[in-house]
Amino acid sequence: MEDYVIEMLHITKEFPGIIANDDITLQLKRGEIHALLGENGAGKSTLMSVLFGLYTPEKGVIKKDGKEVKISNPNDATALGIGMVHQHFMLVDIFSVLDNIILGAEPSKFGFLTKADARKKVIELSEKYNLKVDPDAMVEDITVGMQQRVEILKMLYRDNDILIFDEPTAVLTPQEIDELMAIMKELAKEGKSILFITHKLNEIMEVADRCSILRKGKYIGTVDVANSSKEELSSMMVGRDVKFAVDKTEAKPGEEVLKVENVCVKSKLHKNDSVHNVSFNVRAGEIVCIAGIDGNGQTEFVGGLTGLEDISSGKITLCGEDITKKSIRYKNTHGMSHVPEDRHKHGLVLDYTVEENMILQRYFEPQFSKHGIIKKDAMREYSDRLSEAFDVRSGKGSKSITRSMSGGNQQKAIIAREMDRDHKLLIAVQPTRGLDVGAIEYIHKEIVKERDNGSAILLVSLELDEVMNLSDRILVMYEGEIVGEVDPKTTSLQELGLYMSGAKRDDRKEA
Ligand SMILES: Nc1ncnc2c1ncn2[C@@H]1O[C@H](COP(=O)(O)OP(=O)(O)OP(=O)(O)O)[C@@H](O)[C@H]1O
Ligand SMILES: [Mg+2]
Repeated sequence: MEDYVIEMLHITKEFPGIIANDDITLQLKRGEIHALLGENGAGKSTLMSVLFGLYTPEKGVIKKDGKEVKISNPNDATALGIGMVHQHFMLVDIFSVLDNIILGAEPSKFGFLTKADARKKVIELSEKYNLKVDPDAMVEDITVGMQQRVEILKMLYRDNDILIFDEPTAVLTPQEIDELMAIMKELAKEGKSILFITHKLNEIMEVADRCSILRKGKYIGTVDVANSSKEELSSMMVGRDVKFAVDKTEAKPGEEVLKVENVCVKSKLHKNDSVHNVSFNVRAGEIVCIAGIDGNGQTEFVGGLTGLEDISSGKITLCGEDITKKSIRYKNTHGMSHVPEDRHKHGLVLDYTVEENMILQRYFEPQFSKHGIIKKDAMREYSDRLSEAFDVRSGKGSKSITRSMSGGNQQKAIIAREMDRDHKLLIAVQPTRGLDVGAIEYIHKEIVKERDNGSAILLVSLELDEVMNLSDRILVMYEGEIVGEVDPKTTSLQELGLYMSGAKRDDRKEA
């Protein structure tokens, strides 16, 4: 008989308008890494939230070590040794790293907190598993990579041995991903059992022993990864073959749409410039990509460009007009679209519905409002049309609160809105983060279509496959500067890597 540490049998969980989990059975072997794969909205996070006690299923049972258990809340889950790193982290921003790790599991002796012991344990764990964190830093000041290490330490601190990772790699840099893969393998070797959600098939091939596939709330099957292939996994999940390469013709660049001259942006955290003297241009009909390792000034640069941050010097021209000092709303209504890096902070108002989010920057236009009153029918019609075109899935369609939607569907809603708005320039930062392979294929096709219709596209991506497949020109950013420009048709991943790591740089001509 198989040694299952967790069995979820015939689980059904419904939300208004949708059966998120429809009779799903998932069996986790002791000491295995078990991947969970499925399209955006397939029900992966829901199933894991059931196991972690955040949702109570309508039907089904959960067994731990062969015995039926009741998991009504996360405390029950913790008591059974189950821990979870959430898709959108659940840390308290204004607490320190250490306080976040011990929150709810504070050690005490005769009722007194013995924080020194807690600190010692956290430091030991962080050294043992190579999870570098600064225990005294405030969570709001640390990178997402470190936030994730905090989430992992939280599980290890509680001595959990069933570990759920909900899309942990979506927000990590390639190097951090390699580190996490190594940590997961080490944890499994020690006998911990891991459930791992990812959309990246390479990661599944690299670390997972088995993979279960869900589609539209239903269980499709479980395969041994060693006997499977990326093609098999993706067709099981999407129900058709997926093309990994992007089909596109040679770019035919037209007039200059965006011109950036000697732009500097001051870092909020440090006193120096995090972006120095950046100059380049993007023309109509081309996709220019800023590539680079995360944290090399890309976020600050895009902030300066879009108006989320102040630039300290330099000039930005959009279609011949100096927009350096213009407001965000002015830029929004004069040809700039922006798919932001952080979909929760800058992309959506999470407590608004899909339709309200769809007209966020244009509710005042005559087609959507009259005498300050929103035209509800027009808003609904517009939102329905966009959701249909971009396959935005949710329980109640345009009326769904965006907070309740799956991560990938939130992302698709933002892309739909930004692509549909009247624009000359589309700034797309990590546009396919968190999307399933089918959705990525679709979005890449749409971006190419935009280009061919004469938009200028500035892509900012950490995903090397995306950078190489989609771009017409690649600029590499390193320590706040553009250190080189390469042609994706003639460069190699090795050459790109040299620029990205700062080992190679060109004398740049002025744009
Ligand atoms: N709290 C909720 N209220 C209403 N509907 C919800 C809620 N949570 C999830 N859903 C719906 O259930 C479905 C499954 O969502 P879930 O988050 O499990 O998908 P997922 O497989 O994790 O997708 P992704 O890859 O995009 O993260 C979605 O259609 C979502 O809109
Ligand atoms: Mg999810």
